[in-house]
Amino acid sequence: TMGEMASPSPSPAPEAAAEPVQEKAAVLPQPKAGQPVKGFTLTAMESNLELSPGVTQAVWTYNGTVPGQEIRVTQGDFVRVTLKNELQVPVTIHWHGYSVPAGMDGVPGLTQDAVQPGETYTYGFSADVAGTYWYHSHQESSVQVDKGLYGALIVEPKQSEQPDKDYTLILDEWMKEGGDAHGAHGSGSMSEDEMMASMYNIYTVNGKSGSSITALETKLGDTVRLRLINAGYLAHGIHIPGEFRVVSTDGQEIAEPAVLKDQVVTIAPGERYDIELKINSLKDFTIDAHDDNKYNDQLVIPVKVSGSKGEALEVQHDSLTDFDLYHYGKPAESDLSKVQKFALEYTAVLNSRVDGNGQVYTINDKVFSELPALQVKTGDYVKLTFENKSTVDHPMHVHGHFFQVLEINGVKVESTIMKDTIRVKPGDKIVVAFKADNPGNWMIHCHELHHAAGGMAQQLTYT
Ligand code: C2O
Ligand code: CU
Repeated sequence: TMGEMASPSPSPAPEAAAEPVQEKAAVLPQPKAGQPVKGFTLTAMESNLELSPGVTQAVWTYNGTVPGQEIRVTQGDFVRVTLKNELQVPVTIHWHGYSVPAGMDGVPGLTQDAVQPGETYTYGFSADVAGTYWYHSHQESSVQVDKGLYGALIVEPKQSEQPDKDYTLILDEWMKEGGDAHGAHGSGSMSEDEMMASMYNIYTVNGKSGSSITALETKLGDTVRLRLINAGYLAHGIHIPGEFRVVSTDGQEIAEPAVLKDQVVTIAPGERYDIELKINSLKDFTIDAHDDNKYNDQLVIPVKVSGSKGEALEVQHDSLTDFDLYHYGKPAESDLSKVQKFALEYTAVLNSRVDGNGQVYTINDKVFSELPALQVKTGDYVKLTFENKSTVDHPMHVHGHFFQVLEINGVKVESTIMKDTIRVKPGDKIVVAFKADNPGNWMIHCHELHHAAGGMAQQLTYT
């Protein structure tokens, strides 16, 4: 199981005899001859995180901080990460969006056994694709990611100009412990989903909220890359003032991204957006949140331009437009919209209902344990349609593969937009396609991880 779903384990029967820990995994991949190796140790451990002055939360971390230590390597490196588990609960590491070999994907019960308290486990993979990714535990992930077990995985491109400044910004939400979760006990007309959303009453960037958010330091003429990662369960509309380009999403480059001005980039749970901006005036500014969420006043990222006299950039707040990823960029060479024959075309109708166990989240009216695995062969082209019949967002994530977005609500997407997580809003019908090129057992699930835990997940298997 995914460690959190009541279902028969898809893993092989456990062996009887005691065995070396690493044999609980698929074969650990090794670097090619001469390949540079970058080694890291991530220790899963308890810690305390001061979200803002006087607000300290007990958290679970990789290496004592939330986010956990950033894994930053160069394209072509071999990444070796040793996970030490010093928590009282089993954990894993999943490399969200990265096409690692299936055995390294970190899904307990599917690709490995969870790493027990006191145990050590090693992951290894070749960092062949550049971009912004992240890692998180996949054991009881709705709880463990919520408690802080995540960090960034950044793969810098081998040949290309580096930006002057490169900032990783991981968004998340927290519930104030023992505090006044105002709104949480709101009106009786609130749905379970609305209640849940309103209980997250502290919004953070890199583990800091409000005035505790670290300012980004820049200077006139700088090219700044912002790597936005959403590790939380709410979509956030991030207002980028001035001129900017969205250069990649979910780690995948966007072909010929046009320059935009003063727009709101909405980032759903699990998604990433890389934004490039140029500092062309001696004025400070802020990057903040513009959407319907309740606690946006806590989500303000100051950008300081060295030498500025504290003067602030003039910002249009009333006439902001929403960035539309699906009318942006250009077609690229690898274009799956030209594929003639799909070996598998599957429609996943996303919904939820209340049954004896409370609220369940369904794909085609079934929960994970009732859903058959989707079967593919290497080389197959696969078309997936996500249709959201419920009243809440479902950011759908496919493990181990990049998919191309072909169609949004009947409208063909002309440019080549590759993703691993896509926001499916209520009423949306979204068609995506991918090439089955990474054999193994994989998950497809909603990245509002409570929804995944509540059933909205399905397995993808190579035959
Ligand atoms: Cu980021 Cu299966 O998850
Ligand atoms: Cu969902």
